[in-house]
Amino acid sequence: MIQPELQRPRGTRDILPPESWRVEKFREIVFAMATRYGFEPMETPIFERSPVFLRVGEATDIVQHERYRFTDAGGDDLTLRPEGTAAVARAYIENGLSMAPQPVRLFYWGPMFRRENPQAERYRQHTQFGVELYGSPGPPADAEVIALATAAVEAVGLRGPVVRVNSIGCDVCRPAYRDALVHYYRGRQAELCADCHARLDKNPLRLLDCKVDVAIRAQAPDLAEFWCDACRAHYQAVEALVVGAGRDIRRDPHLVRGLDYYTRTVFEVGHPQLGTGVALFGGGRYDGLTGGMGAPAVPAVGFGMGVERMLSAVREHFPVPSVARVYVAHLPGFETTAWRLAEDLRQAGFCAESDLLNRSLKAQLKDAGRRARFALLVGGREWDNGLVVARDLTTGTQETVPRDQVAVYLAGNGMK
Ligand code: HAM
Repeated sequence: MIQPELQRPRGTRDILPPESWRVEKFREIVFAMATRYGFEPMETPIFERSPVFLRVGEATDIVQHERYRFTDAGGDDLTLRPEGTAAVARAYIENGLSMAPQPVRLFYWGPMFRRENPQAERYRQHTQFGVELYGSPGPPADAEVIALATAAVEAVGLRGPVVRVNSIGCDVCRPAYRDALVHYYRGRQAELCADCHARLDKNPLRLLDCKVDVAIRAQAPDLAEFWCDACRAHYQAVEALVVGAGRDIRRDPHLVRGLDYYTRTVFEVGHPQLGTGVALFGGGRYDGLTGGMGAPAVPAVGFGMGVERMLSAVREHFPVPSVARVYVAHLPGFETTAWRLAEDLRQAGFCAESDLLNRSLKAQLKDAGRRARFALLVGGREWDNGLVVARDLTTGTQETVPRDQVAVYLAGNGMK
């Protein structure tokens, strides 16, 4: 038993085999899909100077209650990143990517930190696969990012995701909507939950996100009636492109997002297995973020996908990838010989292992049955005659192979 003060912090997880293999496979699939769409990998530090993340919105949960913010020994005010978009925007500006040919398509994978109340599928450290497309203001960019998100979700085995999409308008049309929304909710103030009272003053659009006051929300004014011509045309073009490409999306007039940098398109995908309000991925357009960081405004759109949530939704369809492993078992006295053969095989590019506990041959073969596809038997008369017994653990058949032909034999049996 681990001592209580050494236990891992609440809301965090250890990822062990075989789950860790699923994560690796998941990463491989989504990276391949992002590459298919022209995106390239990037990384940012897991901590940034704190003001970077203020740009996601001072009134958001992430900034208000959930930040892992600390001052280091040198007095720097730092924050563990709660999300990737602001960090990528900082990197885009700092590395002069606006001077590179546009659009710039980037993807990333890594841990995010939010001090949320731990509950099912809500962690204090979670992993996101995210993509950001910079430099294109037009609907095809939004459509491309939505199509990639859907393709990635399908590639990992989640069938028929329906993406909920909305447009939250722009600086031209959103203020009038916000006023209408506040006016409507003020009229029903007595019925509102405590959170909505606070939202009314600080972040009225988030009123639509309330999981409690749903009956009030049902009659709230619809953003679509307030869209300016440009926002309407943009939304319709995105919808037409995505639907035309055979992907399912549905407009959700109540969809707003928990971060403040979005303009126009926002989208999210949930899953019946996960509760309401628990999204598999979410994203949208954020044309003002780099401008808010003191650089020229560059149009951008992206999404973040929750890796833990995705894996939990597809677990049954997502088998543990198997490693074509060779197990070099040995008769008594041949432990180092077996180790050496395993090492030769590893140097030749095979996945190979030998017993390191000097166990009986029976125990070794039991282990091999669990972990490997081929067992090689080292020792005895065969070894003296320059031979190794090779047993196919899937079929149970075995053959003797000349020692110097083992690698060729294994390669011929699909082990490399
Ligand atoms: P977000 O909706 O806050 O967006 O997070 C993206 C995804 O990360 C969520 O849909 C969810 O799957 C996962 N996620 C978030 N918080 C947790 C948590 N506490 N535990 C487990 N999973 C979680 C963003 O972060 C934006 N940066 C996305 C984006 C990229 N927008 C534009 N580009």
